[in-house]
Amino acid sequence: MKSINKAAPTIAVIFGGTGDLAKRKLVPAFYNLFLDGWLPEQFALIGLGRSDTDDLNYQLDLREGLDEFSRSGKPAEASWEKFRYSLSYLRSNINEQASYHDLAERIAAIEDAWGTRANRLFYLSVAPKFIEPITVNLGAVGIASDTERDRIVVEKPFGNNLESAKELNVLLTSTFQECQIYRIDHYLGKETVQNILAFRFANALFEPLWNRNYIDYVQITVAEEVGVEDRGGYYEGSGALRDMIQNHLLQLMCMVAMEPPVTFEAEEIRNRKVDVLHAVQRFSKEDVAKFAVRGQYGPGWMKGNQVPGYREEEGVDPRSKTETYAAVKFLLDNWRWQGVPFYLRTGKRMQEKSSSITIQFRPVPHLTFPSQMSENIMPNRLIINLQPQMDIRLRFMAKKTGLDMALTPAEMVFDFNGRSTQSQTQSPEAYETLLLDAMEGDATLFMRSDQVEVAWDVITPILETWESRPSLEFPNYAAGMWGPENAEALIAREGHTWSVTLPH
Ligand code: BG6
Repeated sequence: MKSINKAAPTIAVIFGGTGDLAKRKLVPAFYNLFLDGWLPEQFALIGLGRSDTDDLNYQLDLREGLDEFSRSGKPAEASWEKFRYSLSYLRSNINEQASYHDLAERIAAIEDAWGTRANRLFYLSVAPKFIEPITVNLGAVGIASDTERDRIVVEKPFGNNLESAKELNVLLTSTFQECQIYRIDHYLGKETVQNILAFRFANALFEPLWNRNYIDYVQITVAEEVGVEDRGGYYEGSGALRDMIQNHLLQLMCMVAMEPPVTFEAEEIRNRKVDVLHAVQRFSKEDVAKFAVRGQYGPGWMKGNQVPGYREEEGVDPRSKTETYAAVKFLLDNWRWQGVPFYLRTGKRMQEKSSSITIQFRPVPHLTFPSQMSENIMPNRLIINLQPQMDIRLRFMAKKTGLDMALTPAEMVFDFNGRSTQSQTQSPEAYETLLLDAMEGDATLFMRSDQVEVAWDVITPILETWESRPSLEFPNYAAGMWGPENAEALIAREGHTWSVTLPH
């Protein structure tokens, strides 16, 4: 996480430099870091790709991306002119060693001009099948061998199951040290997600209550309005469980459930988080139906517009069995959380985009007030809204104003955007935080190999069961709804209900 020191001179190399991620996220993130003064004076970005373009056209293409996607809006000409000189393009073939020699020359030329050995950040924004040739060739040419200064950033998906994740870890660690490998989970870079650590461990108020004695259940929802867009091909081989639960939602669960770290060191925090995953109760394949629900969206209406079902999307099999919705109940076998369900759910084409964490407290142990005064009584509830709404809301009971004694629920709200002059456009994007951390060599918010593997292990019974028993009910929710009906049943069994985000 950010320190006030600027990173050392850095050369960022993006494999997949002409791809969507580079244009939408990575380069806008570097640009905003530049604007906010976080980039070192000596900074260069080399985009690698197969197309036959040159530096100028590459820069123009990236400029289009900035115009559309930068959180700070269209770049001012003076800033852009300064920034664009750090961007260059190198035509390359990922599978050919000659391209890596070209890259080595380009890097050497930049470092010679700067008169220093720079930190080198190799960003693998490529399909998983290219990780192997890149790793092998970087190893062979020796341009990423300084364990202090050279880092590899790997995008998800990190494997397709436990076995392939292990293979990938073996492959990467045969060339790089673990400390050089930065596996991205962009949720960990989100402001509101990082704030969970501040909220929990910089306040004395909540931690004493943060356990099975006071908390009834926890819900984590990541609902998306979008469908699969143009990623049908990728998504068909993935599904909601792999795409979202294995990584983003389990990581959120770790942030909520981890023990207080002793220090703010990367390894300490990662250790405490992985402990949570180790504690997840493994259920048998026979029990999967009791713990997990899947769904796939059919045609429906989103904000007044008719939208196609998943099976009608481009690149999707018209008889696809891939889930676009998943809800899972996890239990943690440890002292703090024994018996407290953690409900995780995510889906595409849901009624609205909304990610939140709900901590539902237990009812008061004894009701002092007679029933006519307390008919509205509700247990305390803490809602951490992650996006797009960014706030923390505590529901508590208060007296209704008036002469009689009646109770009513009230709310205390901490609003990120209203907190200062800071507006949403001014709070950094996840990729800015993560790229800066990677440049500074801080791995706190990145996934360690064992974390990735145990996260796969946790979902393996569900994955295997769902794969061996394809759903006969798909599609089972209409686009624009909150998911399939049996997701309600999953949680209603314990007398619980999914919480809906409160209006602003
Ligand atoms: C990605 C998934 O990791 O996260 C996508 O592959 C999903 O399917 C995206 O849409 C959601 O990210 P965010 O930041 O928009 O919530």
